[in-house]
Amino acid sequence: MAFPATRLRRLRRTGALRSMVRETRLTPENFVYPLFVCPGKGVRKEVRSMPGVFNLSVDESVKEAQEAHSLGVPALILFGLPEKKDEVATGAWDENGIVQRAARAIKAEVPEMVVIGDVCLCEYMSHGHCGVVKPSSPRPLGAAVASPPIAGTEYEIVNDATLELLARTSVSLARAGIDIIAPSDMMDGRIAAIRKALDEARFENTPILSYAAKFASAFYGPFREAADSAPQFGDRRSYQMDGANIREAMREIALDIEEGADMVMVKPAMPYLDVIAAARERFDVPVAGYQVSGEYAMIEAAARNNWIDRDRVIMESLTSIRRAGASIILTYYAKEAARLLA
Ligand code: PBG
Repeated sequence: MAFPATRLRRLRRTGALRSMVRETRLTPENFVYPLFVCPGKGVRKEVRSMPGVFNLSVDESVKEAQEAHSLGVPALILFGLPEKKDEVATGAWDENGIVQRAARAIKAEVPEMVVIGDVCLCEYMSHGHCGVVKPSSPRPLGAAVASPPIAGTEYEIVNDATLELLARTSVSLARAGIDIIAPSDMMDGRIAAIRKALDEARFENTPILSYAAKFASAFYGPFREAADSAPQFGDRRSYQMDGANIREAMREIALDIEEGADMVMVKPAMPYLDVIAAARERFDVPVAGYQVSGEYAMIEAAARNNWIDRDRVIMESLTSIRRAGASIILTYYAKEAARLLA
């Protein structure tokens, strides 16, 4: 018997053989394309830390939706840059909010497109947090307020008051024609609150894609520039998850499914592929992975220096997310990857 007995390389000899035995396939149908909608007309403003990603006015986002549709990308997720921010996130639930207007315009022009609404308050709050902020009380009389204030001691992100605003936002998005509600705030109990509000408003058929395991990640940096949503003080660690915790991620996902989530997301994707794989193994709902802004920015930066082969890294990164078990991939490369796959 020849040695070695097992020759795995036999099936790697040609492109045709490799393709025949390929275990994981990407198609544009896997992709969700994020858009950042801003006020104005004819606006296409590139995000500095995300070359190739733009803030788009409503008319421009319709064009982008048409292009994505023609490339076979089935879904968009919308983020909004409102005209004004305040302490109750009016722009998030206003019937004439920026995302509501974009959703109506896109659904009118490209009705087949699945339009997902990201539900969070950070883009619409003057302080940039994902929930309602209250000073912690009682604060010791005359106690100095640190600058910046410290979470848990000087202010808190109030859970239940936030739920009401998230529910209101979700119903207003559904009214504007949004097909799927995707809460990304990480408050406790939000899926139940949103499900109840949607049902009461007769949107029983509107699914919820929960950002169930969303980690407090430094990979969101460029997004906060794109969506102008950086917290003005403190950070998001009192509501987003600690990156070290996979068992807690399973609890988050289990609770969200119990509360009524139809699909669950793990975010970011590449640094948390193990969490995607564990979620796929354990739960039977569709699992989504979000290739976030920092993952995109790293690839772009390295490619600009000619340090990596951009197209191959894009496809390899997306394939890894698919292989880990995500059937839905949110990616800024949606259009581009669809082109590469054509
Ligand atoms: C809103 C939200 C964020 C992202 C999606 N929804 C930012 C954050 O939590 O700070 C990040 C997406 C990305 O980085 O591409 N809460």
